[in-house]
Amino acid sequence: HHQRDQYHPYLVDIYEQLPVPFGLVRFGVAPDHPEVKNVINTFTQTARHSRCSFYGNVNVGKDVSVEELQQAYHAVVLVTTQTILPGEDLAGVYSAKDFVGWYNGLPSCQELSPDLSCETAVILGQGNVALDVARVLLSPIDILKKTDITHPALEALAESQVRRVLIVGRRGPMQVACTIKELREMVNLPDTRPEMVVADFQGVIDALKDLPRPRKRLTQLLLKTALEIPGEMEQERRNKASRTWGFRFFRSPVKVLADPDHNRTAGIRLAVNRLEGSGEGACAMLTEEVEDVSCGLVISSIGYRSVPIDPSIPFDSHKAIVPNTMGRVQQAAGLYCSGWLKTGPTGVIATTMNNSFDTARSLMEDMDSGVLHISSAKPGSQTIRALLEKRGVKPVTFSNWEKIDSVEVKRGEATGKPREKLLTVEEMLQVART
Ligand SMILES: Cc1cc2nc3c(=O)[nH]c(=O)nc-3n(C[C@H](O)[C@H](O)[C@H](O)COP(=O)(O)OP(=O)(O)OC[C@H]3O[C@@H](n4cnc5c(N)ncnc54)[C@H](O)[C@@H]3O)c2cc1C
Ligand SMILES: NC(=O)c1ccc[n+]([C@@H]2O[C@H](COP(=O)([O-])OP(=O)(O)OC[C@H]3O[C@@H](n4cnc5c(N)ncnc54)[C@H](OP(=O)(O)O)[C@@H]3O)[C@@H](O)[C@H]2O)c1
Ligand SMILES: *[C@@H]1O[C@H](CO)[C@@H](O)[C@H](O)[C@H]1NC(C)=O
Ligand SMILES: *[C@@H]1O[C@H](CO)[C@@H](O)[C@H](O)[C@H]1NC(C)=O
Repeated sequence: HHQRDQYHPYLVDIYEQLPVPFGLVRFGVAPDHPEVKNVINTFTQTARHSRCSFYGNVNVGKDVSVEELQQAYHAVVLVTTQTILPGEDLAGVYSAKDFVGWYNGLPSCQELSPDLSCETAVILGQGNVALDVARVLLSPIDILKKTDITHPALEALAESQVRRVLIVGRRGPMQVACTIKELREMVNLPDTRPEMVVADFQGVIDALKDLPRPRKRLTQLLLKTALEIPGEMEQERRNKASRTWGFRFFRSPVKVLADPDHNRTAGIRLAVNRLEGSGEGACAMLTEEVEDVSCGLVISSIGYRSVPIDPSIPFDSHKAIVPNTMGRVQQAAGLYCSGWLKTGPTGVIATTMNNSFDTARSLMEDMDSGVLHISSAKPGSQTIRALLEKRGVKPVTFSNWEKIDSVEVKRGEATGKPREKLLTVEEMLQVART
């Protein structure tokens, strides 16, 4: 706003735990979806704005408390989705969060080195993250090597013995959580063929006409993939394929089966469910029946969960969000939230951005209406920088990050990749400070 700009030169400081920006856009979005990462250009423009500063390598809740930030600033917006994945308690199961972090270069996940020496992998959950993982496991290496996937992941995937990926859902074909674009990518993935269970689709054709449009198109594609006899060319493509993938419906994980002789995962026991109700709200009910599936790798992709970063923040541990009204944290003046911390772990980047615009609007309204007291000056980053220095924390600025960026891009050029990511915080900090 022009007038606002002139009379209230607001400053915005961004604190980020890692030395590098962009969160899940860098560490979540699949490497073969470079177009999705274009949003980085918008973020970069914002970060380079003269009234915006980036302080990377600052862990809020540990290096500096939310309370300290509140004392230094007129308003604090929390967006830190530090996520954990439920279902990690099954031994022998990797979480999708760690697996994705591993191939995307998240420093804390580099030790994972998943065992890919088995033929069959089972993924639990049928959302877009599950499909990302399935696609990365099955993609021809020639496709992956042109992406910004990490070098160690590329090497491991080149040696991978995984030939079959089963994507397991607790509910039915009409309740899958993925979207049509991502499903279509699976259907068209070179050198793979679909392998579905025809019986799972009983009654689906009849229900089709009552489905809302996006769900209907998605279900039609599933039906086509599972039931339709392919044309000659598609049949030939499928015959030649060396890898298979398929959905398995109405199944919930019970336990991972171990191979005691070799001390490794041998399979997974699934409970057979029946659906109660219909449509999006249908419930999976366990039956007595179980089924064992042989596999050497299990990856759980049943959704993310935010965790509170600071005990002073109100937190709804049931919904795993900070309770808020339009981004205003309840009972905490001057405190706002956005991102997955505000809404829960769903939604694409565009949804998250819209949500953030709403939070920003709430903040501006509160400034205009006087709910937020902005008449007296606040020290802002000045005190926080002093605090951090005292605590031996050295923030990484946006131009420091741009050094990391250019080193990564340069290393990538050598091998025909958009970038070769730095994989440790130490190396990031070292490059940032050259
Ligand atoms: C595997 C995966 C793939 C996805 N792929 C797509 C896709 O292809 N297309 C699409 O549109 N959407 C995709 N999404 C969704 C998209 O990533 C999210 O909608 C969006 O990133 C959420 O933004 P956010 O700011 O809430 O969280 P994040 O992007 O996670 O940002 C939160 C930031 O907070 C930082 N942080 C955490 N704790 C602290 C702390 N204590 N102190 C300081 N900083 C901290 C984190 O390091 C992180 O940078 C994907 C999500 C996942 C999980
Ligand atoms: N390409 C893209 O655009 C892209 C890529 C990745 C992620 N994203 C977005 O990021 C968000 C998060 O994706 P996500 O895949 O993590 O989450 P998601 O879309 O919520 O999918 C979670 C899956 O896990 C299942 N599940 C949840 N709890 C379970 C349990 N206890 N037992 C068994 N199964 C369970 C869900 O089944 P139920 O339906 O039965 O609960 C669902 O199939 C989504 O909005 C997604 O669209 C987008
Ligand atoms: C078997 O694997 C588990 C978990 O990976 C490990 O803790 C244990 O030491 C292993 N046992 C043997 C005999 O290798
Ligand atoms: C975001 O908001 C714009 C403008 O209101 C709207 O056109 C768009 O559909 C929204 N996108 C999502 C993903 O909600």
